[in-house]
Amino acid sequence: MKIMVVGGGGREHAIIKKLKANKDVTKIFALPGNGGIAKDATCIAIGAKEIDKIVDFAKANGISYAVVAPDDPLVLGAVDSLNKAGIPCFGPTANAAIIEGSKVFSKNLMKKYGIPTAEYEVFDSPEEALKYLETVPLPTVIKADGLALGKGVIIAQTREEALDAVHSIMENKIFGASGNKIVIEEFLTGPEVSVLSFTDGNTIVPMVSSMDHKRAGDNDTGLNTGGMGTIAPNPYYTKEIADICMKTIFLPTIKAMNAEGRMFKGCLYFGLMLTPKGPKVIEYNCRFGDPETQVVLPLLESDLLSVMQSVTNGTLKAEEVKFSDKSACCVVMASSGYPQKYQTGFEIKLPENPEGEIYIAGAKLENGKMVTSGGRVLGVTAVSDTLKEAIDKAYGIVMTVNFENAFYRKDIGQRALKAKK
Ligand code: AMP
Ligand code: GLY
Repeated sequence: MKIMVVGGGGREHAIIKKLKANKDVTKIFALPGNGGIAKDATCIAIGAKEIDKIVDFAKANGISYAVVAPDDPLVLGAVDSLNKAGIPCFGPTANAAIIEGSKVFSKNLMKKYGIPTAEYEVFDSPEEALKYLETVPLPTVIKADGLALGKGVIIAQTREEALDAVHSIMENKIFGASGNKIVIEEFLTGPEVSVLSFTDGNTIVPMVSSMDHKRAGDNDTGLNTGGMGTIAPNPYYTKEIADICMKTIFLPTIKAMNAEGRMFKGCLYFGLMLTPKGPKVIEYNCRFGDPETQVVLPLLESDLLSVMQSVTNGTLKAEEVKFSDKSACCVVMASSGYPQKYQTGFEIKLPENPEGEIYIAGAKLENGKMVTSGGRVLGVTAVSDTLKEAIDKAYGIVMTVNFENAFYRKDIGQRALKAKK
């Protein structure tokens, strides 16, 4: 069976490594993949947003199953186009991917169906937004409606910052058309939890919970990034909270999407905040999170391809989805300067037989050598019986990975360890 995975980061590498474990899989193509994924799949130089080319490739190469991993192609309708060409896919169609593609859509959905989230107002004119900001309590949260590479959220501590945010998003269009509308919402507090789930539109199976570390610097300082590391499970996410989330958030969300004629099939990601008033939704993603996937999938004991196919076929209810009760830690190694300016092109040297997984995110092959080509270069994941051991093991491997200008956070998992005590 020939499979195709659309995307080319650490998340896709983790997905591909898991898919490889299925004996029926004879070949995996990655579009475009990257210099590290090239070890585990055949990389094809087609970008994740080049939907027509992706469909042509799939048809010409006898692809029998496709996994579309990143947000952009999902929101642009890659799954719709592949399905039309007769290729079954893992991932939502565009009319369901809107749950991530438009914050206005997702906020309105939650309000309409009583799903707990921050109070908010929507604006399509900067004048009204600016006027509203004169009176809101601070800090306040300003979000561009559309996709913005994970950067579309501004937490304004002062009124000036809030006004600036509206000017940059709605007038200077720093996120392009994604900023035609904005959401201004209540600032919530509490520990954050990421819960990825498999859903076929009727059944929803949450995966093991995780915790992202979004800031660039230790102790959650510095700029927001795509994620500098993750641990799983998230100690704040107790059985009791999981039950509340299932009842008040997960099931109501898939039912709401069905009621809107937008059945969601794929991986639905819940970004949650455990507020003093209970768990609330901060954001939905229509896909696997990155780097969450790099700790969640290593803990999956069931066969990923069968689970994915049961999602596509609507038979998830009958599928066993089992996670190990061990812990995992992923430390992201980035290029110094990320998420702003950084240099690339440095050779990456990896240990021969690491006691964990190394997922490559930003690397390319140059004369047979793997060199850095992005901000986040790779993620090192270790699994162990306890979180403490998983953290130590992951950092042990990090010590054996070498490339010039590497930087990483030294405190991935420390907050979770404290929470355990
Ligand atoms: P997002 O891009 O939606 O994941 O938002 C990025 C980060 O901003 C989240 O992980 C939260 O830490 C923070 N954030 C978003 N919305 C709120 C909110 N309403 N209150 C407090 N923090 C928020
Ligand atoms: N780690 C958060 C995301 O994938 O959006």
